[in-house]
Amino acid sequence: MKKIGVFVGSLRKGSYSKKLAKALVSLLPSNIEAEFLDTGVLPLFNDDLDPNGVPEWNHFRHQLDELDGLLIVTPEYNRSIPGALKNAMDIGSRPINHFGGRVALVVSDSIGNAGGYGANHHLRQTFTTLDIIPVQRPEVYIAHTDQLFDENDMIKNEATIGFLQSAIDAFTKLLYLTSLSKSVGEFLDDSTDPLPLTLGDGTIIIKTLTAR
Ligand SMILES: Cc1cc2nc3c(=O)[nH]c(=O)nc-3n(C[C@H](O)[C@H](O)[C@H](O)COP(=O)(O)O)c2cc1C
Repeated sequence: MKKIGVFVGSLRKGSYSKKLAKALVSLLPSNIEAEFLDTGVLPLFNDDLDPNGVPEWNHFRHQLDELDGLLIVTPEYNRSIPGALKNAMDIGSRPINHFGGRVALVVSDSIGNAGGYGANHHLRQTFTTLDIIPVQRPEVYIAHTDQLFDENDMIKNEATIGFLQSAIDAFTKLLYLTSLSKSVGEFLDDSTDPLPLTLGDGTIIIKTLTAR
């Protein structure tokens, strides 16, 4: 049994991203348990309050520690990710990284044509420093979300359901392939050193893997 955390980038009640997240969860195999994590309850990150944090942050960090994977479904806000999602990533990254070694499927969406492409890749950029292992392909950009659902919030288009299933299948495979992901995490550097760059002779070393 694996456990994944579901993040929805939008806090809006009628959010299309939330409907999409529920549709994706319905496509998961029965041996994967999904828990929706509410990023809207997290106070804004403020480094002054760590390392003890605030109760909501600490609860969230404990929730992250229980997870094998992340399903992140987000709209694009001004060509990037919504603030609530970024806030959650920042909180989970301190005082140690609670995301390290987790597998993640990123699904971006928009009511427009581009399917949240900008948000999708900004989010993947944070994965590098957080040692999150992304499903590389398929890349999932869902456009025209305002036309995606019927009156019961079911996805109308069979081809879209098939595509989402292929993304969930890739996510599931990667989750099991990296069953070692938590032990992989043991070898990842969870330091929060903001300057991990080392300049050598003709080389730039971003990070070295060190066993804890
Ligand atoms: C603050 C804000 C910024 C937005 N910026 C973008 C954008 O950069 N690209 C885009 O395709 N849609 C943008 N939109 C439109 C969203 O795609 C649309 O509001 C969508 O329904 C939000 O997702 P939700 O239904 O899950 O809340 C923006 C919406 C808001 C409220």
